[in-house]
Amino acid sequence: MSTDISRRLFINSSASMVVAASTGATLAAASPGASAQTVLTAVGKISPTDEAFWSKVADQYLVSPDILNLENGYYGMMTKSVMAEYQRNIELLNLHSSYYLRRTYDDSGLAAVRAQIAAVAGVLPEEIAITRGATEALQNLITNYKPLKPGDVAMYADLDYDSTQYAMTYLKERRGANVVSINMPEPVSRQGVLDAYAAAFAANPKTRLLLLTHISHRTGFVMPIAEISAMAKAKNIDVIVDAAHSWGQIDFSIPDLNVDFAGFNLHKWMGAPLGVGFLYIRKERLADIDRAFNDGDWDASDIRSRVHSGTTNSANVMTVPAALAAHTSLGAANKQARLRYLRDRWVSQVRNIKGIDILAPDAPGSYGAITSFRMTGKVSKADNLAVASELREKYKIFTVRRGGVAAGNCVRVSTALFNKPADLDRLAQALKSMAGA
Ligand SMILES: Cc1ncc(COP(=O)(O)O)c(C=O)c1O
Repeated sequence: MSTDISRRLFINSSASMVVAASTGATLAAASPGASAQTVLTAVGKISPTDEAFWSKVADQYLVSPDILNLENGYYGMMTKSVMAEYQRNIELLNLHSSYYLRRTYDDSGLAAVRAQIAAVAGVLPEEIAITRGATEALQNLITNYKPLKPGDVAMYADLDYDSTQYAMTYLKERRGANVVSINMPEPVSRQGVLDAYAAAFAANPKTRLLLLTHISHRTGFVMPIAEISAMAKAKNIDVIVDAAHSWGQIDFSIPDLNVDFAGFNLHKWMGAPLGVGFLYIRKERLADIDRAFNDGDWDASDIRSRVHSGTTNSANVMTVPAALAAHTSLGAANKQARLRYLRDRWVSQVRNIKGIDILAPDAPGSYGAITSFRMTGKVSKADNLAVASELREKYKIFTVRRGGVAAGNCVRVSTALFNKPADLDRLAQALKSMAGA
């Protein structure tokens, strides 16, 4: 390692210390006996093109060489150190079984994890409750949103996620709401989206609840949440934000969103083990979300009564501090810059190629690691399955078809920190050949 790099890198001997330092919480309470972990730590701002640095980051992941994986939106790969911590936690739980969870870990262990999530997210621990993922978080927020009266409008858009759309339509059947679905413009832009919501609010003056997706899993577009929310608040419309993809992919804290309700994943861009997320309710608004199924484990004044997951995989929750440590030690801004750079690497080579439509704009703030494309005019499911299949079979590049976009199906590309610029050059070359360029 050159001295230049070594000045900007150091190996921290304990994953827990990084989060402990930034939150005041201690991992010892969350995960007693935590073994030493190695976490790559960036000191200050790192250039997204500093390949010597980023190859060290890529080395933190154990990646199968079988295929070039550019479908990293499904869930995030854990770093080797997070994986080791997860395995250690699984063994710990199996060794001590109920005695550990009832006597040692118990509520205090969970409370420490909650405190660490809250500190990194910029909110209070009593404003979050741990869930099994964003779906569980958002289903509880949407279906238990109390102020909705029969005849009120609950609004969502084509770019929102399927399970959250289903929860919104449930409000029609169970709560008598008038559920309205709108389509985002294509090509999409920040202003186009603001105009679309302004028009939708004007056309639906009884709107009371709005679902927004921070980063669309369909196209990769980053919604201007705070601005739409400001427009909504002026009309007494509450916003529930689906932040399943955004936290960990782009750099923000919950207060930046300017909303009172949101659902998050920790197993996507935060790199925690599968099966963990959380819901957020601003403290002053807790009474506006009902308890989950009349939960009696916690008092109605406690946000933990807003979700009841039952007996779940505690090892993944116990591993969250290690994932947060890996994230904070690298730095959200550094991570965002590198993910955007990798995305730009392929998009810049094909954006102007005739026959390829890129579905997320290049405006700063409007994209992260994910961007979808469509071969011009090829809008059907079969068309896009064929494109993804050709990439997979002929070029050994893994992507995924996404539907649900009003203007037609597409193929999603989502880069990860273990991807190299050459990987994206390979994708760009493949796309150019497929487009006949
Ligand atoms: C935009 C969006 N919202 C919500 C979810 C649900 O997340 P999970 O299935 O992890 O609960 C996903 C999952 O991919 C998503 O992409």
